[in-house]
Amino acid sequence: MARHVVAATHEIPPGGRKLVTLRGRSIGIFNLDGSYYALLNRCPHQGGELCRGTVTGLATSTEPGRVEYSRHGEMLKCPWHGWEYDIRTGQSWCDPNDTRVRAYEVTVEPGATLARGPFVAETFPVSVEQDYVVVEL
Ligand code: FES
Repeated sequence: MARHVVAATHEIPPGGRKLVTLRGRSIGIFNLDGSYYALLNRCPHQGGELCRGTVTGLATSTEPGRVEYSRHGEMLKCPWHGWEYDIRTGQSWCDPNDTRVRAYEVTVEPGATLARGPFVAETFPVSVEQDYVVVEL
């Protein structure tokens, strides 16, 4: 599995998103309160650019006339026909058992580990024995 550096964390503030293309695939990266999630930018319904859709919350109802709004900023609404997906998992809210957007693992790593070059000089153990410096090969 190849790893790709897609952004510095400040480029995607909480509530923000960034679209990137990796190996020919358009992918949306989302920041939900400091946690990052990545979804394929293709709606399973008819292929709309899902990650350009409106970020919203979850509206549920237990009885007629009573609607509760929760999970603000965690749902993504496809701009083509309005199907909604959970940004954290890619699961469809319309058809949770059979429809899911491909989600990718995202990690945040210190820049120092990513900027480290591929070349490492060979090292050897060194010890001091009665005023003589000894190198083991
Ligand atoms: S293409 Fe996304 S809801 Fe139809």
